[in-house]
Amino acid sequence: MNPAWVVLKFGGTSVASFERWRTIAREAAARARERRVLLVCSALAGTTDRLQEAVTAAREGRESDAVERVARAHAELASAAGLDPAAPALAPMRAHLDEAARLLRGAWLTGEAPPRLAARILASGELAATALGAVVLASLGVGARWLDVRELLVSAPRPLDSDERRYLAATVPAVRAPERLDAPAGDAAVALTQGFIARTPAGETCLLGRGGSDTSAALLAVLAGAETLEIWTDVPGLFTADPREVPSARLIRRIGYREARELASLGAKVLHPACLEPAALHGMPVAIRCTPHPEMDGTRIEGEQEAHPAVTAVTCRRGGTLLSVSTVAMWDTPGFLARFFAPFEEEGISVDLIGTSEATVSVTLDAVPDGVEGRPFKRLLARLEELGDVQVIHPAAVVSIVGRRIRATLGEVAPALTAFQERPVHLISNSAEDLNLSFVVDDDEGPPLVQRLHDLLFSARGDDPRLGPTWERLRGAPEPDAGAAWWVRRRAELLRLAGDGQPHYVYDLATVRERARRLRAALPAVGRFYYSMKANPHRAVLETLAAEGYGIECVSIQEVEAARAALGSAARLLFTPNFCAVGEYGRAAALGAELTVDGPHLAEEAPGLLRGRGLAVRLDPGWGAGHHAKVRTGGPSSKFGHPADELDALRSALEGAGARITGLHAHLGSGILDADAWPALARLLASLAARAGDALQWLDLGGGLGLPERPGQPALDLDALQAGLEPIARALPGIELRLEPGRYLVAEAGVLLAPVTQVRRKRRTVFVGVGTGMNSLIRPALYGAWHPIVNLTRHPAPPDLFAQVVGPICESGDVLGRDRWLASPARGDVLLIGNAGAYGHAMASHYNLRPPAEETVLA
Ligand code: LLP
Repeated sequence: MNPAWVVLKFGGTSVASFERWRTIAREAAARARERRVLLVCSALAGTTDRLQEAVTAAREGRESDAVERVARAHAELASAAGLDPAAPALAPMRAHLDEAARLLRGAWLTGEAPPRLAARILASGELAATALGAVVLASLGVGARWLDVRELLVSAPRPLDSDERRYLAATVPAVRAPERLDAPAGDAAVALTQGFIARTPAGETCLLGRGGSDTSAALLAVLAGAETLEIWTDVPGLFTADPREVPSARLIRRIGYREARELASLGAKVLHPACLEPAALHGMPVAIRCTPHPEMDGTRIEGEQEAHPAVTAVTCRRGGTLLSVSTVAMWDTPGFLARFFAPFEEEGISVDLIGTSEATVSVTLDAVPDGVEGRPFKRLLARLEELGDVQVIHPAAVVSIVGRRIRATLGEVAPALTAFQERPVHLISNSAEDLNLSFVVDDDEGPPLVQRLHDLLFSARGDDPRLGPTWERLRGAPEPDAGAAWWVRRRAELLRLAGDGQPHYVYDLATVRERARRLRAALPAVGRFYYSMKANPHRAVLETLAAEGYGIECVSIQEVEAARAALGSAARLLFTPNFCAVGEYGRAAALGAELTVDGPHLAEEAPGLLRGRGLAVRLDPGWGAGHHAKVRTGGPSSKFGHPADELDALRSALEGAGARITGLHAHLGSGILDADAWPALARLLASLAARAGDALQWLDLGGGLGLPERPGQPALDLDALQAGLEPIARALPGIELRLEPGRYLVAEAGVLLAPVTQVRRKRRTVFVGVGTGMNSLIRPALYGAWHPIVNLTRHPAPPDLFAQVVGPICESGDVLGRDRWLASPARGDVLLIGNAGAYGHAMASHYNLRPPAEETVLA
């Protein structure tokens, strides 16, 4: 049995230089070990435009040097490959170009170039490029059989098709017929053919329309029954926004056919939407790959495995037209819409978005033949004016939020809609397939809106296996703000420490102190701060923060004991456990900790403990927040807190056991960057204050103060937080506001140093292995968290290697950093993993019996 085919399509810029052909040769050879490879190539970049220009010139009786320019580009490429453009091997290439010149001369003489002739002239670009490509590949050691695609793809014209359609925008049905390819390919492991071209049933040359090479490739892949279709282009894949407009746009790693088609038709120019139809129909995965960067994974388009709702991208199409007709005649008039749409069909103008109301129909038009000044549009307007008042907005932009089951994401999308404040929206439309939510706005509002929406929807989305690095990162932009970090100053000390070849956690106490002071200074509305020691229970950290006047928030009896042991009897401890054994409360109380309960259970199980005691209750506000679903601690399905609206019942149970409520406590989650989160919570607790009883002394708003994780994420605005809390504090005299941050105080103060054990290339992926992994730092594996990684040994050498940073643990999730640019490491170099001071060592394990990195403190 013959091995299966894979089809690789290379576009115009991907075949235009010798360097790119080297990549093509390398990729073809790599696959040819296990598969048969069909390369489908476009004409050299710019060729089709030049030939089209020559056709137009010939029709108008003008001379044109377009074919000579095309021939020169081919000769230059041949020379760059070390070939003599006049060599006998390149005779087929020259023959195709000569044929184009001959046909053009004929057209020029007669002043006529009907579609049938134009198709033959335009087809010579692909024919010549592949004839040249076959020789270049041979010179690189890859014997590729040149196939004329007209033997493989046959169009199916309809009887009434115009010649334009028949020859220049033909339809080719997708059929599976591997024998049609197997016969001419023979035993070749690599075959090479043209995109864009096919033949009519009568054997004449026809074209698939502009952008048709992608479609050719999909049709050929279906024909061959190929395993995968790879579209090689000059960008790394589909992005969450147009990266030229939004540099923080992220690569989409995986996407379903329908969403990808939606994206492609809404303005992502990476692939032609029509090419996805045949692939989807035959369930064939499509991979988008980047010819200049073959080491990158790109985007994979395949069947929708995950049906859960998701926002995938923000797009913008500019230069459209919005047209509205208003009339009272619409009320209750059956058939009005049929009359409205009839002239569109007659004028050949297709409609994109539609909105209707009682008395108005609005539509957007993507492309109007001859433009809004042209005859068809004028005639359309005249016809519509017969129906009612017509209003035209041109140019207009359509901004779309694209994803799947968009209607189910409205809760997530809602905060981003503030982007539309003070910008007129002319029409909103939700696609019937629920793949987009589109807004028609003034044309120049399009780009800033996309930027803003993208920021709001994507900047805080750390963990999403479907999304890859940002465009900036992929292009090798250095990771930001390293310059200011303490570890740059203390690099020599760190390298000395790591000289033993072991992994190390290192904490800089000066940074802890600085953060503690910064927070207190910025938030005078907060009466007392507690440090949530679960983030980092190192004794030196506890001592540093206690010395700064912070109390300690503990969640287990072990934390209470450790804090007491480190800080002595004067330290203020708050005990906020969740589902812990009743006995722990008694022991914590005995050690002098204030108790927080999150339900009535103690009243039932340990009434003796409550008698005469003041204690706090932890409430569930009904909503949560944070960097990942696993760290959001509010809402009905969360195990934390007593429902805020059932405070009365809880109070009577506790008071029944002889206790008084001295504090109300709530915690939304971890890694929150929105400054409104705590004021909103404070307002809720303040509204409950009267119902807690006379003994109430404080409201604790929990922790969760976030730090920017990914580059480009905006920092938590402490001034805005203070401004939000201040009026609440003022309205509650005698009641203290409390916060209990963990991460904010310690995350940036800690780094993980890990020695490089191996640098290994597997196929096209580079793995940099380090001496410790998820056993020391589980956050990337658990939450998809992003930690900056720098080659400390080489710092500040610019990053030049695109790699996956992995640990030694036997789990495929043991990846500390995906898709990172590093200054090329050698074995023994030390990688620094930043922001590791919070929930790093605290969550470490001995998994695989590998001890986690040991901790060192720098005073
Ligand atoms: N208060 C309570 C009641 C908490 O449950 C927590 C954290 C904090 C305060 C402190 O939150 P912070 O300011 O550190 O965000 N392992 C996760 C974080 C889990 C936090 C659990 N509770 C991570 O590595 O992101």
